[in-house]
Amino acid sequence: MELLSNWCSNGSLPESYVLPPEARPGNLIVPLEKSIPVINLQGNDRNETIRQILKAGKEFGFFQIINHGVSKDLMDETMNVAEEFHAMSGLDKEKECLKDPNGSCKLYTSSYAYPREEFHLWRDALTHPCRPLDQHIQFWPGNPTGYREVVGEYSVELWKLSCRILELLCEGLGLSINYFSNELSEAPKIMINHYPPCPEPSLTLGLRKHRDPNIITILHQGQINGLQVFKDGLWIAVEPVPHAFVVNIGYLLQIISNGKLNGAEHRVVTNSRDARTTVSFFVYPSDECVIGPAKALVNASNPSIYKAFKFADFVIASYVNPDNEALKELIYTSTA
Ligand code: OGA
Ligand code: NI
Repeated sequence: MELLSNWCSNGSLPESYVLPPEARPGNLIVPLEKSIPVINLQGNDRNETIRQILKAGKEFGFFQIINHGVSKDLMDETMNVAEEFHAMSGLDKEKECLKDPNGSCKLYTSSYAYPREEFHLWRDALTHPCRPLDQHIQFWPGNPTGYREVVGEYSVELWKLSCRILELLCEGLGLSINYFSNELSEAPKIMINHYPPCPEPSLTLGLRKHRDPNIITILHQGQINGLQVFKDGLWIAVEPVPHAFVVNIGYLLQIISNGKLNGAEHRVVTNSRDARTTVSFFVYPSDECVIGPAKALVNASNPSIYKAFKFADFVIASYVNPDNEALKELIYTSTA
């Protein structure tokens, strides 16, 4: 399959990218009082920060963070190498992603399931593991110049930031502070998304409505609009805030919190003017890790909504069955 960036400037939207009417972007209604909270991580009252994060994680499943400790220069440099990567020729990109015989560095267009898709998405993506760094960095793209150095430093910083946010969430939920410091966060990944300008933004999407199948995601979305969160039947745009990160609760954390946190559905719309590049840091468990509601959050008045399952089975169930019946079967207790 050809990368989108190889042919997208030819000016028309192929039929295979036209979504059925009910899945198209439509009109965006953004009630002002419902915008995604922006949280200052350097506020002087830690308990207040925890309260804000927990409230946003429950209500929206999303929040933005400022004063998060990652330098603006590093954020800008990371965005630059991310854009430079996607600006290379298709052949060069492919060559840079073949360094691992086990294929850990992945380059694809639309979604990972492209050959089986009913409709394609207006997006190219690069993804690779990033921890421990010295086991993976040699398989990352060697070009553009500086990619490994910059993204390496970025992934170290984003790992620290993820741990900090998970600790705040643990405190807020009443879990031990190191609840996630084990196989639950063992396999973080970097993903670099690229959404070229699109000739027909009203007919297609960059990403369809989905929940992230992980613990948490920290997104550097740059300055171009596109991300929208589904809340109470409406789509809310996540307005770019300079040098903020967008944090969202993953589906697995919703399950671990026994529904106290919301792994909110979201999507990406395209636009006809600007290319949009984003960098996601996904906190993932190991494949063998068992996921289920934390014991401390289950009691007589809060019965378990979800069963325990192996993460690898969750991946298979979300992959094989597009309407997710197999997934529901796997994760919900029979009474839920
Ligand atoms: C994702 C995602 C949002 C964006 O990669 O799962 O939702 O704005 N990305 O690129
Ligand atoms: Ni997502």
